Amino acid sequence: MSAPGMAPRLAAAQLLHGVLQDGKMLSDLVNGKDSPLRDLPPGGRARAQSLATATLRNLGPIDVVLDQFLQKSPPLKVRNALRLAACELLVDGVAPHAAVDAAVRQVRASRKTAHMAGLTNAVARRVAEHGPEIWADMDPQELPVWMSAPMERAYGEEALRAIEAAHAKGAPLDLTPKDAARAGELAQTLGAELLPTGSLRLHKPAQVSALAGYDSGDWWVQDAAAAMPARVLGDVAGKRVLDLCAAPGGKTMQLAAGGADVTAVDVSKERLKRVSENLERTGLAADIIAADAVRWSPSEPFDAILLDAPCSATGTIRRHPDLPFAKSGEMKKLLQLQGKLLDRAYDWLKPGGKMVYCTCSLLPAEGEGQMARFLERHKDARQIPVADLPEDWVDEYGGMRLRPDFWAERGGMDGFYAAVIEKPLEA
Ligand SMILES: C[S@@+](CC[C@H](N)C(=O)[O-])C[C@H]1O[C@@H](n2cnc3c(N)ncnc32)[C@H](O)[C@@H]1O
Repeated sequence: MSAPGMAPRLAAAQLLHGVLQDGKMLSDLVNGKDSPLRDLPPGGRARAQSLATATLRNLGPIDVVLDQFLQKSPPLKVRNALRLAACELLVDGVAPHAAVDAAVRQVRASRKTAHMAGLTNAVARRVAEHGPEIWADMDPQELPVWMSAPMERAYGEEALRAIEAAHAKGAPLDLTPKDAARAGELAQTLGAELLPTGSLRLHKPAQVSALAGYDSGDWWVQDAAAAMPARVLGDVAGKRVLDLCAAPGGKTMQLAAGGADVTAVDVSKERLKRVSENLERTGLAADIIAADAVRWSPSEPFDAILLDAPCSATGTIRRHPDLPFAKSGEMKKLLQLQGKLLDRAYDWLKPGGKMVYCTCSLLPAEGEGQMARFLERHKDARQIPVADLPEDWVDEYGGMRLRPDFWAERGGMDGFYAAVIEKPLEA
């Protein structure tokens, strides 16, 4: 089993098994104490993760190819070894002998599956020989119904297919510069594209901590869409701003860099450690409070609030291809929590103050629907249309609706919703 490149493949197989068999999230598997990546060097960890994510992102089409060459479905471990080999052959362009050999070694390594090494060899070879032709005609992986049905209703079938295509392509690496005035210079140093919204985009995968400007805290990793809610809140310089549901702190850093006096609240102490680390690296400051916002109350109201509510995270499928395999059962609880957080946060806003409600969700119930219900409950509140955005980024009520299929030629963006709410001045 000590053939070159085997260790990352075995780790990728364990990640795949953890998601598909045990229903776990990749981030939990990767960061957990029994992580299959724990003994790998950084390069091996990156390879294992990218192989597992690429396989999940293309799982449906990969299975269609495999099923052309399988007479009956093999045990999951054998199928997973073949799925990884097919991904290496059809998506990553790995040399056939290496991918086939790796699958055979994996299957041979376990007493339970060793007798299927011959079959694995035969199927993987046929995928190497005939798979590319079949692959060329395959549609991207379909999203599960709990995601696709509401998306199709909201955006139409063509948009749903485009979102699925964006999901299959994965995501580039986006950075938010701390000082917008230095964005051009940083783009040059990093070889990045400066996007019209001010984010920097790297089109090739990179080890983040090795990039220029990481140690000096000149930027942080944040999808171009995720950087928009803080921008639509407008000028925050000198204002007391509440960043509610703040961890890991992308928006906290934007608000602090914009000159706000920021209070960052999140229920997760563990995730708040990331906020502290991020602030330290970038030389920015915020008051950090670990509290459940359903129970916590501030001592005085805020000039502005950014509420980035917990949600299905369906907007981030390009970066989290394990999400479509997660259970959908938590939606009701999330919808209730989002409504409660909105109501509480509105109470903490000064008259004349602005609040942005946002979610990285593609499901309208968590964005547009949540906003409609909020406005019904709070007759005094006013939704202000987001300003200075392309027309197709704005919904009929003035909310920002971003989708993974936007900017397709540039590499897409995460799905995001944001609405600006204003509290009237007291009469
Ligand atoms: C979408 S993430 C926030 C991302 C963050 N705003 C950023 O830009 O980096 C949602 C956050 O809500 C937090 N959260 C969930 N329920 C909460 C609650 N009841 N009170 C406070 N925070 C909560 C989670 O711990 C999670 O960090």
